Amino acid sequence: MSLEDSAAIVTGASSGIGEATAHELASRGARVALASRSEERLAGIAADLETKYGVETLVVPTDVRDEAAVDDLIETVVDAFGGLDVLVNNAGLGRGDGVADLSTDDYRAMMDTNVDGVFFATRAALPHLRESDGNLVFVGSFAGQYPRPGNPVYAATKWWVRGFAHSVEGRAGPDGVGVTVVNPSEVRTEFGGDDGESFAERFEPGEVSEPEEIADAIGFAAAQDHSTVHEIDVYRRDKFEGW
Ligand SMILES: NC(=O)c1ccc[n+]([C@@H]2O[C@H](COP(=O)([O-])OP(=O)(O)OC[C@H]3O[C@@H](n4cnc5c(N)ncnc54)[C@H](OP(=O)(O)O)[C@@H]3O)[C@@H](O)[C@H]2O)c1
Repeated sequence: MSLEDSAAIVTGASSGIGEATAHELASRGARVALASRSEERLAGIAADLETKYGVETLVVPTDVRDEAAVDDLIETVVDAFGGLDVLVNNAGLGRGDGVADLSTDDYRAMMDTNVDGVFFATRAALPHLRESDGNLVFVGSFAGQYPRPGNPVYAATKWWVRGFAHSVEGRAGPDGVGVTVVNPSEVRTEFGGDDGESFAERFEPGEVSEPEEIADAIGFAAAQDHSTVHEIDVYRRDKFEGW
């Protein structure tokens, strides 16, 4: 399915699943706005997209924890592209371990990014997605579907994302907006790198999912014309071994 000339925003587009998603959407013909805090990295990715797929891009340095910055992001993209067809709420992070030893800084980083950031972007984008009969895609997680004793706060942020997304779907659907949650399990990205070893370092190729596989699922959902792809789970094949 094509996204020819549609206007898309990917948050957290500077690495991992977000970067792969920017490629996936551009390969389907979308104009892509890349948002995250790392302007230089975004500019490099945008240049790649323009060369490879001949699409228009926009780099909008944005910290999703900052409400005003997120409002500006949506407004800037709507002004530049003339509307908005797709928002991919992907920016997110996991920090720390357990509860007893979790610092308040790590708690806030996860809540502010994974919860508040998703709310700010969704709130600002919804009126435009209603206008375009567009698609709203959330990156959830396996951790948002099953208990995760190792990091309950991270898990809870992703349970929130799924609960929020499906509840939004109840009202946005009748208004013509598709709403999807894509749940990866382990993916070889920079995820986890804040605490030491990233998933790209921890896992060998072939052991777990690659960002492009998740991006493929996001692209499928984002290109829907009138159906909603409610939820897609993409797990490493041995995820349930020993359960
Ligand atoms: N990798 C996995 O195993 C896995 C599994 C399930 C779900 N997920 C979810 O997938 C999503 C993408 O993660 P990833 O695996 O691709 O990790 P990643 O490679 O670390 O990418 C995270 C992205 O989020 C952005 N980000 C972080 N804080 C931000 C902020 N305050 N404002 C704007 N952007 C911010 C980062 O950009 P800047 O640093 O440039 O701001 C980066 O582009 C996350 O929501 C994560 O929870 C990942």
